[in-house]
Amino acid sequence: MLDSALLQKLIDDGRVRVLDETLSTNRDARDWLMDDAQHGEMVIASRQTGGRGRLGRSFSSPEGGLYMSLILKTTAAPGAVTTLCAVSVRRAILKLTGIETDIKWVNDLLLDGKKICGILCESAFSGSESLGMIAGIGVNVYGNQLPTELQDIARSVYPDHAHAPIRLEALAAFIRAEILAGLAHLPAHMDEYRQHCITLGKAVYRAENGETHEGQALDTTNEGALIIRENGILRTIGYGEVSIRPI
Ligand code: BTN
Repeated sequence: MLDSALLQKLIDDGRVRVLDETLSTNRDARDWLMDDAQHGEMVIASRQTGGRGRLGRSFSSPEGGLYMSLILKTTAAPGAVTTLCAVSVRRAILKLTGIETDIKWVNDLLLDGKKICGILCESAFSGSESLGMIAGIGVNVYGNQLPTELQDIARSVYPDHAHAPIRLEALAAFIRAEILAGLAHLPAHMDEYRQHCITLGKAVYRAENGETHEGQALDTTNEGALIIRENGILRTIGYGEVSIRPI
């Protein structure tokens, strides 16, 4: 269970909504943004029953993870914020645990080749008026409660621990501080992103119209798009899926 007094002490410049269980903190943050939420305010939960991932997928969210959604009143591109979140989570894990993680384009953090973190940045509108962005972050921190079908591709940072060896509240506050500071200096985080992005330099595969295309990941743009070379042609992939394993 999260300690809301501790969280509010660590985060003294904005409100934090702390929940034991919710459907999705991204949904809660969006509702709050429609109401009166301010830049930097945050929703955090101990578990989610309908955690959302990219491309319409679900995000398994058992107890033992960190599930947070940060409200950002920004006009920055979603890809720029997603890459900033990835760098911020990476820094927070390194600082608090000493553990190095890899970034897999665009929004995953891997530990020993398995996913420990996913990021879902969603823009929020009221009619045609942009209200801001929700940066949703899920980190599998401790325990081994991920569904069996995910065990080959995902893990937690501390699978053998029944309790978190680090404070989830401290991890959340560190991540939030890094994101808020980094937003003021976009795209300064991109060198660090590229340095730790294991997708770059690798063969990548993508499916289009039922065909598989093989290319090589060369670089990212400062807005987080992936630049690949496919049959001698340069392409910029802004969203969607590329795989580093043959499809
Ligand atoms: C992905 O891996 O595709 C992105 C996963 C993002 C999950 C986080 S957990 C907190 C926030 N609330 C959600 O419903 N999703 C994001």
